[in-house]
Amino acid sequence: MKNMNVGIIGSGTMGSGIAQVAATAGCKVNLYDTSQVALDKAKSSLNKILLRLIEKGRIDESEKSRIQGNISYVNNLKELSDSDLTIEAIVENLDIKKKVFSELESHVSKDCIIATNTSSLSIASIASSLQNPQRCIGIHFFNPAPLMKLVEVIPAIQTSKSILEKSVTIISDWKKAVAIAKDTPGFIVNRVARPFYGEALRIYEEGLADFATIDWSMKSLGGFKMGPFELMDFIGNDVNYTVTESVFKAFYYDPRYKPAFTQMRFAEAGYLGRKSGKGYYDYSAGASNPEPNENNELAQQIFNRVLVMLINEAVDALHLNIASAEDLDSAMTKGVNYPKGLLAWADEKGMEWCVSAMDELYNEYHEDRYRCSPLLRKMNKENKTFF
Ligand code: NAI
Repeated sequence: MKNMNVGIIGSGTMGSGIAQVAATAGCKVNLYDTSQVALDKAKSSLNKILLRLIEKGRIDESEKSRIQGNISYVNNLKELSDSDLTIEAIVENLDIKKKVFSELESHVSKDCIIATNTSSLSIASIASSLQNPQRCIGIHFFNPAPLMKLVEVIPAIQTSKSILEKSVTIISDWKKAVAIAKDTPGFIVNRVARPFYGEALRIYEEGLADFATIDWSMKSLGGFKMGPFELMDFIGNDVNYTVTESVFKAFYYDPRYKPAFTQMRFAEAGYLGRKSGKGYYDYSAGASNPEPNENNELAQQIFNRVLVMLINEAVDALHLNIASAEDLDSAMTKGVNYPKGLLAWADEKGMEWCVSAMDELYNEYHEDRYRCSPLLRKMNKENKTFF
């Protein structure tokens, strides 16, 4: 696989990161963009990243030259004609992606794998733009691609078994952890992680606790590196809200994924988080932020509620065959740095605890949002564990 030719389409945040990963693994990469500015920026930011890696002692000068020597920056799609694999990372727009895919197919050989890094579009719809849709697959990296271990590989219903197998081998060779996901909205991570934000926002909206207390509860009791509000500020409230809304719509408005007015208002106000200097917290120099209410009983209540909603989501994803139990847990620990896999966490808490915590929420609210996954109930009845 070392001598593979890889074509990357789009040299923005994701495309340039994926190019670095492939070039580091020894592939010859053609990085293509329609914008010369984007290509120049990708080249200079890679140089900066590699210089920083030298400073940190992670790589030496010759490794830097080797990686840079493996990447060509090109502004014509034809230059990708000798690719064994292409990965598209352009703007998230179905019509534009389809157009680029059908042009690309006319340039590459019939054996070339044509992959997309889309995070919200269906792979089946993108594949349908090809004459030979069985060669199309989702290869979904996380940001920043060189640092995040996880890659979700998503076969469409059209994708052939051999293309799936080859893709998994290549991505594993690039030293990434692969999780295979079904072609459904949010794949694994962007689906299973929704309650981390959604339930935290709901707890806030009900007036049970403020942002700082909710974050503190999740970190101190759950071992999460960031609380939900810190994480939303880090991701950007505009970006996080858009993902939530698109997952909600894609699930035919299932109330489990309902976005929160609070986050919409924050996005509308321009309180985007770190990048705008203000979100749920104030990031300006010398700003003072509220201290959490370190009441253990309240913290436990908050933590239990968010955790059981996350567990229920992961179990339901297993119930619907979105991914294997192993891949579901590795996706959450490697894709979003959760301290534990959610199914392993369910085993630890016990199925009885999970079912009764969900039923308690359902009995209190009578909302479909709090329905317990049938698989969780079955596991409890049969006294089973996931691992
Ligand atoms: P970006 O905006 O940083 O980069 C997109 C690049 O594509 C730009 O340089 C643009 O000039 C280029 N482009 C646009 N139309 C083109 C065309 N027709 N032909 C060639 N190049 C074209 O976008 P980003 O964030 O890198 O996202 C790219 C894809 O990756 C999207 O599908 C997004 O959903 C997905 N993604 C993004 C993640 C993120 O955190 N940013 C994470 C995982 C997936």
